[in-house]
Amino acid sequence: MNMQAKPLHARHTADATTAEEGLAIQEEQAKLDSHFATDVAMQNTLLTPRFYTTDFDEMDAIDVTPVRRDWDELIAEMDADPNKGHFRKTEDWDHVDWEGMDPALKKEFIDFLISSCTAEFSGCVLYKEMKRRGGNPDITKLFQLMARDEARHAGFINDALREAGVAVNLGFLTQKKKYTYFRPKFIYYATYLSEKIGYARYITIFRHLQAHPEHRFHPIFKWFEEWCNDEFRHGEAFALLMKTDPKLTSGVNVWWIKFFLTAVYATMYVRDHQRPEFHAALGVDPDWYGHEVFTKTSELSKQIFPITLDIESPAWSRGLKRLQKANADLAKAKAQTGPMAALRRMAASTRAAAAFARLYVIPAKRHNVPASTRLEPAY
Ligand SMILES: [Fe+2]
Ligand SMILES: [Fe+2]
Repeated sequence: MNMQAKPLHARHTADATTAEEGLAIQEEQAKLDSHFATDVAMQNTLLTPRFYTTDFDEMDAIDVTPVRRDWDELIAEMDADPNKGHFRKTEDWDHVDWEGMDPALKKEFIDFLISSCTAEFSGCVLYKEMKRRGGNPDITKLFQLMARDEARHAGFINDALREAGVAVNLGFLTQKKKYTYFRPKFIYYATYLSEKIGYARYITIFRHLQAHPEHRFHPIFKWFEEWCNDEFRHGEAFALLMKTDPKLTSGVNVWWIKFFLTAVYATMYVRDHQRPEFHAALGVDPDWYGHEVFTKTSELSKQIFPITLDIESPAWSRGLKRLQKANADLAKAKAQTGPMAALRRMAASTRAAAAFARLYVIPAKRHNVPASTRLEPAY
């Protein structure tokens, strides 16, 4: 049985039930795992979370000797499993009035949950595969621990979705979703950034709702603080992996780092601006939120990347707005048919590409990278 692909819900009860009962529960769940949510999770566009595959042998060959002390410390921390009991509904899980929720908010919030679940599960699938294919005890240990965490995260979101009558069929996704091949170094840049930006996103929402609990319209946000510490540790692991080989963060690779920084930040900005009701319900201005998350992520990424993007430059915010507008126009044109619509689609795509290129060429800021990468969550 594929442990990670099995919803967490079933795992909670697995100890107390027989194999047959377990199977019956799974079948029941499979019925609930709606086509709608799975279809959304199956989408592969520039903006939706993807599944990745890579050269696992190359990753397995990494020697962590140069960062051994920091490595052992981090693995010991993860092995101690500080969030072991965290991803369970407790009495803090307030009742959610899905029926009474404003339909526009409900739609965007479900979209947010599905996309978060897919992203968490994408990490799980990649990490589990590395663990399965590898023979290097350092590498397989790390990836097993990270797959464990991501399976919990995805399962917990799916539990929340199930209350709304939808859930992503994670087993189906594992088998049927398209996998994108990335060279290992691109996996490091992309995954490191997605872990750190994930941390920054979760902690920013958590702190905001701590100050404004009246905006906490769903209990899942209460779980974000410990949750984001998992993502923080995952990011630390990728920083250490990159630290083993100085070539990964120098020379021409700095241009790749800049590319991934720009792509990850820009994707987040455009995606968040597609959910105005969701952010209004949280009492969060998406422009403020984006800037806050970029600031935190940039500060953190100085631990390993020699550059950060100039997010204070007026050209940066102008470029993001241009990109977002082009994407909105593209979505509109995609919903239309006919030769004019095709033309509009092409024009909007060209504008989006040009806006991205202009963001990319904004001069970056250079930094000296510290000898040791290790950081503690401080936000
Ligand atoms: Fe996660
Ligand atoms: Fe993670």
